[in-house]
Amino acid sequence: MTANLLSAADLSADEIHALLDEADQLKSSLLDRDVRKLPTLRGRTVMTVFYENSTRTRVSFETAGKWLSADVINVSASSSSVSKGESLRDTTKTLAAIGADLLIVRHPASGAAKQIAGWMDEDGVRTGVVNAGDGMHEHPTQALLDAMTIRESLGGFAGRKIVVVGDILHSRVARSNALLLSTLGAELVFVAPRTLWPAGTETWPVRMTDDLDAELVDADAVMMLRVQAERMNGGFFPSAREFSVRYGLSEARAARLPEHAIVMHPGPMLRGMEIGYPVADAPRSVVLPQVTNGVHLRMAVLLRSLVHSEGNA
Ligand code: CP
Repeated sequence: MTANLLSAADLSADEIHALLDEADQLKSSLLDRDVRKLPTLRGRTVMTVFYENSTRTRVSFETAGKWLSADVINVSASSSSVSKGESLRDTTKTLAAIGADLLIVRHPASGAAKQIAGWMDEDGVRTGVVNAGDGMHEHPTQALLDAMTIRESLGGFAGRKIVVVGDILHSRVARSNALLLSTLGAELVFVAPRTLWPAGTETWPVRMTDDLDAELVDADAVMMLRVQAERMNGGFFPSAREFSVRYGLSEARAARLPEHAIVMHPGPMLRGMEIGYPVADAPRSVVLPQVTNGVHLRMAVLLRSLVHSEGNA
């Protein structure tokens, strides 16, 4: 049976650590090799199905699949029959019928990945589904690569204070990190103007505040989020400049962080908006290590779905 990964809530702490351990092992064994190729997924077909733009997630899943010798096929909405009006249901069932072992799906609708997994179950096919970002809901593999980077940089999660800043309302990264990092025992503080607080955060395992400066002095990691203008249809803050002044990680503000603290960003970054140009490139920035870790972490996710779950049917 192929294991789905639809939500960070699907994973226990032990399962998360097992994925991070596997990703660490893959990274240390592959990174300095001339030939980065393992035969494990030879003969397996992975399809990336993206209804929204992506650089990091799509390309790192493709790289991960190719380094594991899977056949990787990229389907984009703009160049497929989606542009002729084909439904999500028909498109994904068609890709399963062609022979996908695993669909890696990004879609603007919250719940899309779960819906597709339901259609696969309905048909009794063994095609699995991995959520590569569904609307404002979740992005579990981003949270996993963030956790890998935090563990690599800080040694663990217990007692670590992670401050997540910016457009929490529209952020699937924030939601998945709330679930995943709290499962791992980290302390989570989410900082945003009150207009960007999602409804129901009182039930989330996080502390909400709008005072960024007060939270930086004892933070172990600060994760800046992109302001998602494409999901905004109203005035959530008076101006980009005001947002940047109050919630951007400027050089002066980053100087408040403890020496050991790391700066994270899932990308794509809006330099000059939520993060200052020099801060993004500073020695404490782990933005590029996050991207590198994303490949190895996604290799571990592919192995979880296509190899480690075999025999569980
Ligand atoms: N972090 C992230 O999801 O980036 P992409 O949109 O480039 O995939």
